[in-house]
Amino acid sequence: MPRKLFVTTALPYANAAFHIGHMMEYIQADTWVRAQRMKGTAVTFVCADDAHGAPIMIAAEKAGLSPQQFVAGIAAGRAQYLDGFHIGFDNWHSTDGPENHRLAQDIYRRLRDNDLIDVRTIEQFYDPDKGMFLPDRFIKGQCPKCGAADQYGDNCENCGAVYAPTDLIAPYSALSGATPVLRTSEHFFFKLSDPRCVAYLEQWTQDGKLQPEVANKVKEWFSRDADGRAALNDWDISRDAPYFGIEIPDAPGKYFYVWLDAPIGYLAALENLFAKRLGNAAEAITACDAYLADPELEQVHFIGKDIVTFHTLFWPATLHFSGRKVPDHIHVHGFLTVNHDKMSKSRGTGISPLKYLELGMNPEWLRYYLAAKLNARVEDIDFNTEDFIARVNSDLVGKYINIASRAAGFLSKRFGGRLSADLGVEGRLLLDGLRAQRATIEALYETREFGKAIRETMALADRVNAFVDLHKPWELAKHAGADAAKLAALHDVCSVCIEAFRLLTIYLKPVLPALAAQVEAFLQVAPLQFADADRALGHHTIASYQHLMQRVDAAKLEALLAPPETPDLAAAGSGTGLPALPGGTALAAEIGIDEFNAVDLRIARIVNAETVDGSSKLLRLTLDVGEGSDPQGQPILRNVFSGIRSAYAPAQLIGKLTVMVANLAPRKMKFGLSEGMVLAASHADDTAQPGLFVLEPGPGAQPGMRVR
Ligand code: 2FM
Ligand code: ZN
Repeated sequence: MPRKLFVTTALPYANAAFHIGHMMEYIQADTWVRAQRMKGTAVTFVCADDAHGAPIMIAAEKAGLSPQQFVAGIAAGRAQYLDGFHIGFDNWHSTDGPENHRLAQDIYRRLRDNDLIDVRTIEQFYDPDKGMFLPDRFIKGQCPKCGAADQYGDNCENCGAVYAPTDLIAPYSALSGATPVLRTSEHFFFKLSDPRCVAYLEQWTQDGKLQPEVANKVKEWFSRDADGRAALNDWDISRDAPYFGIEIPDAPGKYFYVWLDAPIGYLAALENLFAKRLGNAAEAITACDAYLADPELEQVHFIGKDIVTFHTLFWPATLHFSGRKVPDHIHVHGFLTVNHDKMSKSRGTGISPLKYLELGMNPEWLRYYLAAKLNARVEDIDFNTEDFIARVNSDLVGKYINIASRAAGFLSKRFGGRLSADLGVEGRLLLDGLRAQRATIEALYETREFGKAIRETMALADRVNAFVDLHKPWELAKHAGADAAKLAALHDVCSVCIEAFRLLTIYLKPVLPALAAQVEAFLQVAPLQFADADRALGHHTIASYQHLMQRVDAAKLEALLAPPETPDLAAAGSGTGLPALPGGTALAAEIGIDEFNAVDLRIARIVNAETVDGSSKLLRLTLDVGEGSDPQGQPILRNVFSGIRSAYAPAQLIGKLTVMVANLAPRKMKFGLSEGMVLAASHADDTAQPGLFVLEPGPGAQPGMRVR
């Protein structure tokens, strides 16, 4: 019976672009999923944006967007990372989707019916200017312990003290600067301390679903007091309006705390996938329920070590006590550091995944490197520059890719690409040895010991290279013209190399899917599965060899790690003595009025906006710049391609007025002629301050009016 798996990664907050830590988690999960599929396991692999919560609501407000527009802008930027690093999610959804609203409310109602919801009055800081309760991280003040100024409401960055926001000296709202006042409010609690929950979770967390070190840590949370009561606290699951979230049924003005509906988003993303496949939302509910009801189905979540509580206590409890399937495995990983430095955007260190791709670095180098360092434990791993270069250049290219490049030339030149099926005794022994490792390597992928799987595979590559060095095909080739035995030996040795290369490719395919596809084309074989390791190519013809992978260029890596030329606002000017860079970039050189007048800016009406096939960045805009009609009476309109797709859905733009450069020389682009440019604002570092904002004139402006 093939296994059936429902696999997710943690849902990223929709308030910023991905950082390298996200990519590590996705690469880990994607590699595991690909290895599963290569064994015939049926996997559904999904993720979604975690859209709700106060920080996102506040970021959207700052950006002048509705929260929905703001998260749509972030969502539009996801594909370039996921496609870029070959992360093969079956679906990418959002926790603000209708499925999640329905599911979260349904789960809540069942918990309430099960007497696991409590309503209590609590006291909390309220910002009288903003008219809202303040989350801890939006309250600042003086540390009650060391007196440091400007500390957050939950802990002091100076002395490390942990406290309640109400302990702060001279607290103020980080949103408005107002002094917060204490106000009471009714909050909804999930009764995690209920004996039913405690008993259930104590069992659930200790029956093999968690890594041993995670299970041990979680066990501590169940330690009992003198009366024998476990120390689990009830969980505050409500927030007051204004809040970007899901409304709590029968509780006007109350919303679910983002962490209540976030993991439910896993189920919403699955249901949404069914809806896309079936083309019908109602049928999707039934199909999704049936899928999850299959007793064979295993539900697996990949997460970071910082969100273990949510996934080992709240999530299984809310599922179980609402009568739903609970997770079968939670796979926890550590953090990623870069040259032993914790990531910090403001200091400009760390690795931007997008910059990596833009520099033309091969995404599979990173997949390989991270896989080589990953294991099944909750360990932090370090991205080390020299180590990266060594592993990619010496191991991946030097040991593995080289096997094909050493043999393929002789095969195509001397033997028309046709492999020998005889191979010789030593060759067959070598290949049998490689095949014998299949079960071990499969098991290492299964247990997420990717580092070991790579080490085993590279040890096999060493054996193959030793075989090549022993038989010296280049020597054989020298004499092959006159000596038939040498010619036959050359044929056998090179054929052994190609067969060995095929086996190594199978073992590396979960990590290197795009490379494996290139190899499949070169070898002229169907997509490789693990079972293909037990078969031999035999009499078979391969295509001519095309270069498969380059070595890492150290200069590119240096460029990747160099701090951005335009550090964000937080870095510039904050106690450095340097002037702040407005919008993250220095002002351009001074110009005179004539130079300004040379630019003809006009008001334009966006008559139409549409996406452009084949471009993830552009929208095609049709603009009316007040240029009247042609002799046939057709209005004269401009066609402009604008790189604003990440920030706007076409429908948001149609009918809007904007400002365009109307005398810009027309530019021929891959998708057609662009006749001008629309003006939009953005911060120089879009990872620090995301968003792209098309200019709009004040009321009364008409198409064609000059802007000066
Ligand atoms: O920590 C985070 O980034 C959260 N957005 C993870 C949510 S995981 C799941 F519960 F949705
Ligand atoms: Zn302090």
